[in-house]
Amino acid sequence: VILETIVTTRDAGGRVNVAPMGVVDQGDAVILRPYRETTTYRNLLAVPYAVIHLIDDTAIYARSALGEYEAEWVPAAAVPGAVLTAACSWIEVSVAGREESEERATIRCQVVHRGRYRDFVGYNRARNAILEATILATRTRFLPVDDLWRDLRRLEVIVAKCGDQPERETMAFVMEHVRRVAGDQRATSRS
Ligand SMILES: Cc1cc2nc3c(=O)[nH]c(=O)nc-3n(C[C@H](O)[C@H](O)[C@H](O)COP(=O)(O)O)c2cc1C
Repeated sequence: VILETIVTTRDAGGRVNVAPMGVVDQGDAVILRPYRETTTYRNLLAVPYAVIHLIDDTAIYARSALGEYEAEWVPAAAVPGAVLTAACSWIEVSVAGREESEERATIRCQVVHRGRYRDFVGYNRARNAILEATILATRTRFLPVDDLWRDLRRLEVIVAKCGDQPERETMAFVMEHVRRVAGDQRATSRS
């Protein structure tokens, strides 16, 4: 099963990057599949360590995927990496091998350490909808714009119905991002 997680990596200068990534947890190994244009991918080549977090605050997924996210973190225990203080639990890994035959790289990582702060509270429909909306928003440039808005509006209804104020604010942030990027795209194609 693919788990949706938040991955921290570092560049050669030590700067921490935070991004949502799906991973497969195999026990002593974890598989990551980053697109090659992501900072996560470039960082994993430069500094072959990552920290993979289970986090129940979905705002972190949206904000780290779609904008600059200033994360609070502490040094990892067993790798030169960053553990987010918002994490429920985390896995510290080192890159063991990679395969690059597809658009997405397959990066096999060795588990070095597992840590835990607290229980994972769980998701409700609004939080699931935010994850789905965030994934759509990361694909704004590739998806047919009418399909994109139809799907986002459907998810917005779920967030309005099942979410609290923080979820509504996060959904508004996602919609604003798509409006800006889709708008830019139309402006560019006219010029
Ligand atoms: C729940 C979720 C799962 C995602 N999984 C992946 C993934 O497995 N691989 C990938 O390349 N991008 C994935 N993305 C999209 C990246 O998070 C997004 O492109 C992000 O901007 C990459 O950040 P970076 O360039 O800082 O690494 C996912 C996004 C979300 C919201």
